[in-house]
Amino acid sequence: MIEYVDIVADLSWGDTGKGKVTSALVKEGEYDFVCRWAGGNNAGHTVFVDGKKYKTHLIPSGVFHGVTSVIGPGCVVNEQALTHELRYLENNGFDISKVRVSPRAHIVKRQHIEDDVSFLAKRFGTTSKGIAPCYADKMARRGTLAKDALPYWMMWDEKLYGKVLCEGAQGFYLDVDHGNYPYVTSSTTLPYGACSLGFPPQKIRRIYGTCKAYDTRSGVDPMFPEELLKDPELLRIADEGEEYGVTTGRRRKVNWLNLDLLIKATTISGATDVIVNKVDILMGTGTYRLFHEGVLKSFEDFASFKQYISHFLKTSDNHVGQINFSKHPEII
Ligand code: IMP
Ligand code: MG
Repeated sequence: MIEYVDIVADLSWGDTGKGKVTSALVKEGEYDFVCRWAGGNNAGHTVFVDGKKYKTHLIPSGVFHGVTSVIGPGCVVNEQALTHELRYLENNGFDISKVRVSPRAHIVKRQHIEDDVSFLAKRFGTTSKGIAPCYADKMARRGTLAKDALPYWMMWDEKLYGKVLCEGAQGFYLDVDHGNYPYVTSSTTLPYGACSLGFPPQKIRRIYGTCKAYDTRSGVDPMFPEELLKDPELLRIADEGEEYGVTTGRRRKVNWLNLDLLIKATTISGATDVIVNKVDILMGTGTYRLFHEGVLKSFEDFASFKQYISHFLKTSDNHVGQINFSKHPEII
């Protein structure tokens, strides 16, 4: 029987420290499973274990703590990338024997990657991993299932029990339904997507929503115009915050936190906890600004910035109980 499900999901455009939060929760939480419900190796998770930095794309962060790690039916799997990542983790001393793939996950083929590179990557700044073409084939019912492509021992038996943690990929505003379409990814990134793993919504206990003290965007999006790359204050944040894509190595566009969008994402996601990451980067630059109700507001110090965010997040029509402000790579 499933006792409860906790979910970690991003409230912005990805790259907000989900891997870090997941890893910290797994360390404390005695979870029986850590599961991914969407996306593929377009994701990039940076996790610090005993002070050392690791980067993964496909395998849930439970693998760093010996917990059964499930790649769910809503995910797309590149076999070479999976093999490569398993080897990387094994070579770094992690136990990969508990990594499982849903037999219903879809396989990314070479043709998907070629189509992504030639048609989508330039227009939308995709990660070129074949994600959209693979999901297109899934929806058109001509995809290849993991059970027909991967070794039997890797297959998940589709059973969940005890305490379950679900690790989101990408972010709220990259969601295919809620993002700035067509500048989105091809999956459901909102926490309700986690139910595709095979549990009812009533089992959800807590939803940890992550964001940063400023916004970033990898890839093309008219909401993040190129001019942002010319603003010296934002460029400084980008440099201090090492805002380069884990998957693509591209420079991310940085903007001041959009509190209106954060409130919307928090409310719709049903986040019970919000973790605002990388506050130390703003502490380093000494610039505290955010957009609220369409106006750019400046703050004297971190305390007033923090108080403002907490106040409006808590008084909105949502379920937020706890708000944490966290440094990088410090754990919540
Ligand atoms: P795709 O998922 O490769 O099709 O890319 C679609 C859009 O989502 C592009 O703008 C990517 O930059 C963005 N994207 C996909 N995965 C991530 C991620 O893990 N972090 C941040 N942006 C992402
Ligand atoms: Mg990422």
